[in-house]
This record gives sequence, structure tokens and C-alpha cells, in this order.
Amino acid sequence: MDKENLIQEAKTIRERAYVPYSKFKVGAALLTNDGTLYTGCNIENAAYPVTCCAERVAIFKAIADGHYKFKEMVVVADTDRPVPPCGSCRQVMSEFFAPDLLVHTTNLHGVTKTMTTAELLPFSFSSNDLPEETK
Ligand code: THU
Repeated sequence: MDKENLIQEAKTIRERAYVPYSKFKVGAALLTNDGTLYTGCNIENAAYPVTCCAERVAIFKAIADGHYKFKEMVVVADTDRPVPPCGSCRQVMSEFFAPDLLVHTTNLHGVTKTMTTAELLPFSFSSNDLPEETK
């Protein structure tokens, strides 16, 4: 599956976003190293902070299925610029993605900006910062 296919998958799942509060639909598509596709949309909640972003839905679906090796991700929304992933999603990406994994952020106008996990969240907190006995 190439980048264009992934973008299409992210746009398709974006239509399933549950966004009664923000009305802002986001879609994400995540490809594992073995070629398995995981998609996610944002799922909001009346208790607003409980909302889960599209990126984390896709990542958590993959992790729950036992996948830990990832190739690339696409994120799409109806924004002027390519949609920037939020800080919480960047932290989750840094937990599970290699520093050089490519995240293609895009919008409905086809403007795409590709960044690595490390570029999205430099100087990130990781398990290396935890005391030895907690790792
Ligand atoms: N949202 C995402 O799904 N991903 C992001 O990286 C940015 C924000 C969602 C969360 C919420 O449902 C809506 O966009 C508005 O913040």
C-alpha cells in the first residue's frame, strides 16, 4: 500500500468521526511493517477531555491486535494547512514509532507535509528517562 492509498483510507475513515461537539473530523491510517492497515477517526465525548484523537484510535487498535512494528502514518482533516497532530498524539507516537518513521500530515486540498516522529516531538520524554527499576 503506497502513500496515496493510505491517504484515501484516512479520508474514508474520517467520515466515521464521532464529532457532535467540535464537528471537526479527523482521519488516520497506519501501516504496519507486515502490511496490515489500521485506521482511526476521532471519537468525542460529552465529557470533553475523554475524547480520543484519530491518530491514537488507529495506534491503539494496532497495539491491541499485537502489532508493534510500524511503517508510516497518514493524518487528514479539513484544515488550511496539513493538520498538525496534537501533543498527546505526538507523545503516543514517540512511544510506539521509530524516530525516523514518516508521518504524512495532509488536508482535503491535497497539501501534504511529511515529518518524522522525532521531528514532531523533539526532546521527548521516554522510558530511557525512567529509573532503571521501573522499566
Ligand atoms: N483531533 C484529532 O483527532 N487529532 C489531532 O491531532 C488534533 C485534534 C480531534 C480531537 C477533537 O475531536 C477535534 O479534533 C477538535 O480538537
